[in-house]
Amino acid sequence: MEETSLLRLLFLISLLNCPTNQASLTVSPSSSQIFEGQSVSPSCEEDDSSAGWTLRRNTTRETRTQCGPDWGRRDSSSCNINYMDPAESGVYWCESREGATSNSINITVTGGPVILQSPVLPVMEGEDLTLTCRTKNSSNLPAGFYKDGSFIRTEPAGHMTVHHVSRSDEGLYKCLISSVGESPPSWVSVTEKPMTTSPPPSSLPHPDATSSDRPHFVFRLVCHLVVFCPYCISTFIMVSLYRDRATGNYRSVSMVMTLPTQAEGLEDDDVITAVTTEYHF
Ligand SMILES: *[C@@H]1O[C@H](CO)[C@@H](O)[C@H](O)[C@H]1NC(C)=O
Ligand SMILES: *[C@@H]1O[C@H](CO)[C@@H](O)[C@H](O)[C@H]1NC(C)=O
Repeated sequence: MEETSLLRLLFLISLLNCPTNQASLTVSPSSSQIFEGQSVSPSCEEDDSSAGWTLRRNTTRETRTQCGPDWGRRDSSSCNINYMDPAESGVYWCESREGATSNSINITVTGGPVILQSPVLPVMEGEDLTLTCRTKNSSNLPAGFYKDGSFIRTEPAGHMTVHHVSRSDEGLYKCLISSVGESPPSWVSVTEKPMTTSPPPSSLPHPDATSSDRPHFVFRLVCHLVVFCPYCISTFIMVSLYRDRATGNYRSVSMVMTLPTQAEGLEDDDVITAVTTEYHF
């Protein structure tokens, strides 16, 4: 009887790893632009592996195609693409079986001689933004930087840092190395500093991918933690205790009842203490 209770408790504890059903996409190397022929490994960092997250992409040629069957090589948590082709430029995201989506990342593959290395994830207001203009072989040639088509300045070593970014620094950046060439443009987004513990809403014009998903996620998480889990534990433990009593295990029930806190108190910690104590007898 005590062992059954313990097993039930262990089962409950395993349920406590509240699946939150959220994934975030990261990419290695962390650059929004890469040269043709380079390899990349985007990966879905998931909270709940049973949600069946898959990496998908939209390119100019294909829509919502999937890593594994359609392109790339899938291993446990990431997708490896060995030789990126300019036609594989596009937006990449993770999607669960139920259709929940992660943040999305734009990857631009160029057959040209120059790339702009910019952050793949939004930069937080107040942080520094570093952009690097490079060729395949060198990342410290003098380079000119442009935002939304306007020249900003020339940096002698090819790196431009914007200190303490604000929302107005968001835009389409590109760079130029004279006598070599120009990079494709990349969108750099700046997100508001979060006011609370909830993730900041994305400032990207991509309501489908990020903005609408995050409040939903926070709601789910709060719901789950505040309402569902304690309710579940209490109910389950109460049912266990009453079943033990009903089947006549008076000895262990009496041990539980002598504890200072009543099992009826519905205080999770106390109930768990009670069940654990019961196990020792
Ligand atoms: C991918 O393409 C489909 C169809 O055009 C579109 O509905 C969807 O929003 C796109 N996804 C992203 C993340 O851009
Ligand atoms: C991807 O690029 C498009 C076109 O430049 C831009 O509108 C969109 O905001 C970008 N998305 C992300 C996630 O950076």
